[in-house]
Amino acid sequence: MQNRVLISEKQINRQMNLADQLNRELKSRNLKFYVETFGCQMNVRDSETIKGILVRIGYTECAEKEEADLIFYNTCCVREHAEKRLMGNIGALKDLKDANPGLIIGICGCMMQQDGMAKKLLKRFPHVSLIFGPNVVFRIPEMIERVLSGERVIMTDEENFAIAENLPQLRDNPRSAFVNITFGCNNFCTYCIVPFVRGRERSRDFENIYKEVETLCSSGITEITLLGQNVNSYANDLNSGSFAELLVGLNDIPGLKRLRFMSSHPKDLNDDVIKAIASTSHVCHHVHLPVQSGSNEILKRMNRKYSREEYLDIIRKLRAAVPDIEFTTDIIVGFPGETEEMFQETLSLVDEVGFAAAFTFAYSPRAGTAAAKMKDQIPEYIKKRRLQELNQLQAKKTVENNQKYIGYEGEVLVEGFDQRTNETLLYGKYSNFKMVYFPGNPEQVNTYVNVRVLATNKNSMIGEQFQIK
Ligand code: 5AD
Ligand code: SF4
Repeated sequence: MQNRVLISEKQINRQMNLADQLNRELKSRNLKFYVETFGCQMNVRDSETIKGILVRIGYTECAEKEEADLIFYNTCCVREHAEKRLMGNIGALKDLKDANPGLIIGICGCMMQQDGMAKKLLKRFPHVSLIFGPNVVFRIPEMIERVLSGERVIMTDEENFAIAENLPQLRDNPRSAFVNITFGCNNFCTYCIVPFVRGRERSRDFENIYKEVETLCSSGITEITLLGQNVNSYANDLNSGSFAELLVGLNDIPGLKRLRFMSSHPKDLNDDVIKAIASTSHVCHHVHLPVQSGSNEILKRMNRKYSREEYLDIIRKLRAAVPDIEFTTDIIVGFPGETEEMFQETLSLVDEVGFAAAFTFAYSPRAGTAAAKMKDQIPEYIKKRRLQELNQLQAKKTVENNQKYIGYEGEVLVEGFDQRTNETLLYGKYSNFKMVYFPGNPEQVNTYVNVRVLATNKNSMIGEQFQIK
């Protein structure tokens, strides 16, 4: 069961010493980096580490790629259009490289782990000099050193089970941080490329997660989101611990006000987790619970390992234990073999649950996955029509969901503000992820305020601040 490879302190130190050595050589050159991130929170989190290592090497971040001496694209390959977009983006960098031959262009992230992709890209784009996968980020110093000495470097695959602790990071959100708890995935949902590109599931040790959350909270961060492809299977590869215990164990860290987590897999969200959400003071009342389909036949073909009825049962139990809980979800339409009736079952599930929001996708075949080889692929125009129909229903459900909130009072973490003509509207979220807009002062951004919902319109809720007497 133990399939983790913990990268040794010695290896990490070797990379960091190399970074410091590069820093002494490069610092005076005032070099700048630009990192663009595609895809999910996992990639956003990886980019923070990538940026942290680049800072250690002596680069500083810049906002425009035109000013940069090093450009990295951190890629996603969950759906096909991402790949097409990337090709266009990389092609467009050639002019910058021509104008500045010293420019380092690198491509990293999930897509680089796809079969043959790294070699294909290196061949197609002579202006790219570095390609690496998500599990070798800790080796960036070594890769940069080789690139600086004129090599073109590909580094993928080998560290597929790796966990590297204590890497530098550059986080720019002062109130909120992502913390990895597991890497990789063992579920092999038949449509999904993630298990192929991010390797087997492995959990970080509780002590390391605890220390990271503690350090973040002592620096003023109050909202932590625990990240994993399937957070509920945390610790399955360890000798002790569970996701429920992790939630309880982190809850009382000084300074922590909100503990979020994503994504949950319905097959692993057990009663202990429900109890942990209900019994802790800081675990948020929101679960992102991807359902993918409302049809048992499709769920089976997707290898999701739960039924529609079991999914609805979890929702029911969570609502009974935590009355103001809200759910968001992911849904795929047009999976191979999805008949009109099966699609209707997805619509009826969406109608029944009343999600606060749904991320909806047309099925996109990914080479190497089981579903890509299935017969009965659905024509694009049908997928598109089903997606529209689903989105229309969800839009209606979002309005209904918002309407429940008129008169609702609760604490909001302010995330930002919109400057309207003569009024400043702040926005932020309740613990259960519902977003509200309300008049306020930009200085209140990143603080917690009490907000009462007064009205709702199509997509949003409008409120006012109030003081608790
Ligand atoms: N096609 C369409 N959507 C997909 N997702 C994952 N793989 C595919 C695919 N091949 C969606 C799932 C998942 C979300 C992150 O992306 O809904 O939960
Ligand atoms: Fe992909 Fe399924 Fe793993 Fe999520 S749980 S990353 S959808 S294989």
